[in-house]
Amino acid sequence: MIVVNTVSALRHALAPHRTGSIGFVPTMGALHQGHLELLRRAGQDNDVVVLSVFVNPAQFNDPADLAAYPRTDAQDRAHAENAGVEIYFAPTVDEVYPTGFSATVSLAGPIVETFEGAHRGSGHFHGVTTVVTKLLMMIRPDRAYFGQKDAQQLRVVQALVADLDIEVQIVDVPTVRESDGLAMSSRNVRLTPDDRSMALGLNQALQTGRAAFELGESAEAIVASAATVLDHYSITAEYLAVVDGADFRQVVDVPSRRAVLVVAALVGRTRLIDNIVLQ
Ligand code: PAF
Repeated sequence: MIVVNTVSALRHALAPHRTGSIGFVPTMGALHQGHLELLRRAGQDNDVVVLSVFVNPAQFNDPADLAAYPRTDAQDRAHAENAGVEIYFAPTVDEVYPTGFSATVSLAGPIVETFEGAHRGSGHFHGVTTVVTKLLMMIRPDRAYFGQKDAQQLRVVQALVADLDIEVQIVDVPTVRESDGLAMSSRNVRLTPDDRSMALGLNQALQTGRAAFELGESAEAIVASAATVLDHYSITAEYLAVVDGADFRQVVDVPSRRAVLVVAALVGRTRLIDNIVLQ
């Protein structure tokens, strides 16, 4: 595995691979099974796999959240090597945003303004779309892999590449869960044992919501049934809603098959998100 920290070293490392297909997995590190599944898919589909590890300050609205974000570089390198990554790109903040950097790539509309956009501030998705555009320009992959756990981010990235005609296939990969249903997240390491038990309420609530959907219930009734489970686990949701999976507008009547039930909540001091496709 080649480890590079600069864009020029990255391009140099990629040059011999340009004749084959390049798979790219963008991450903020603290790699877990969910990331390893993205890497496995990328390895299966491509001749070479590039992993980026960059905790992007531009997408954090809360400096405390940025400071507390887990950083596990040595462990990440070992995981990446075992997963067959050929190029490990870990740039510094100055490399990505050098002095004088002033560009922003931003989408508009409900897709970036609702739910995660509303709760993390309007700058959150602008930070994501700016860094993802930069990473795609630096690497120019054939395919880039994103997890369905960050369902809204996935839709934002799909819209970004469509709007800007960026020549890359966005591959979405199902959420990887612990055996008890908790969605894998880099933030899970911050859960205390009590938080960890409480966090199970998120997936339980989503499963209950989906059962209500299967009985033909309205969005309101689906949310009400999921909310009962959150209450049982003493979880106060930041949001719990049925949304249209295409544009993230809230669905108020009977959900269609592309609807998604989304939830975000503080569990102890850790903010977690999860979702389930209603089908
Ligand atoms: O999902 C993430 O880890 C980040 O939002 C991403 C896509 C790497 C951009 O910083």
